[in-house]
Amino acid sequence: MRLSGKTALITGGTSGIGLATAKLFIKEGARVVVTGRDKSRFAYVQAELGEGALILAADVRSSEAMQEVTAQVQQVFGGLDILFANAGYVIPTPLQSIDGSQYDDIMDVSVKGVVFTMQAALPIFREGASVILTTSFIDQTGKHGLSLVAAAKAAARSLARSWSYELLDRKIRVNAVAPGGIETPLLGKLGLSEAEVETFKTQFTSTVPLGRMGQAEEIAAAVLYLASDESRYVVGTELVVDGGCSQL
Ligand SMILES: NC(=O)c1ccc[n+]([C@@H]2O[C@H](COP(=O)([O-])OP(=O)(O)OC[C@H]3O[C@@H](n4cnc5c(N)ncnc54)[C@H](OP(=O)(O)O)[C@@H]3O)[C@@H](O)[C@H]2O)c1
Repeated sequence: MRLSGKTALITGGTSGIGLATAKLFIKEGARVVVTGRDKSRFAYVQAELGEGALILAADVRSSEAMQEVTAQVQQVFGGLDILFANAGYVIPTPLQSIDGSQYDDIMDVSVKGVVFTMQAALPIFREGASVILTTSFIDQTGKHGLSLVAAAKAAARSLARSWSYELLDRKIRVNAVAPGGIETPLLGKLGLSEAEVETFKTQFTSTVPLGRMGQAEEIAAAVLYLASDESRYVVGTELVVDGGCSQL
């Protein structure tokens, strides 16, 4: 029970990495609130997380929506100990074809969304709270065709540093977790056919030093460490969980 008595908010907690983390947090004793946009998934997510979990519809790109989320967290749980700002998605953006709407889509979710989420949570953090931002291994390496996502995640990684400074007096730690290629529903949202997804996975796997893609539970385990008091001397860092892609 490493999170006993703690309250956690997970954006993008209705799928993939966020959902796996919500399950692990609950197992470790936390009260969990998850957000997403697609309400058709909520019954499934409630069944997965149990009746104790609160599931809220909110787009992280809306400051008002995120304020409403944290107002509900405050009302139901009285404060917040853990924020996992994880909502995000990926679309290929080769340089020559980037248009305004792609630019806004990616930057709005991964940068503005993180800023609005953090701003909304600020008044309800308890002293000693832990914040984890989901970045990506490609913020260190870059990636062909994914420049905007890499840049947006690099911005989020930077925010973890500056916000850590700003929140030192409240003993709030801000860190990032940088997943490598992880098998989640995200892969099915890239606009590729099933065959193309399989080809992508095979090609990608051949570039991973550990020889396989990661599982959402392997990211959740890293997030649990950063969320718990075991990481109490860790602040402003990025924990890379990528099978060695960016390091070897
Ligand atoms: N999978 C990977 O290989 C990988 C690698 C590096 C980094 N990441 C990062 O890990 C995070 C989680 O990704 P995942 O692989 O778990 O993807 P996923 O299974 O597609 O889950 C993404 C979650 O984010 C939510 N979301 C997306 N846009 C949102 C918005 N505007 N407002 C609120 N919620 C939103 C989704 O809910 P709705 O669809 O209902 O909005 C969903 O709950 C993302 O930040 C992603 O960039 C993933």
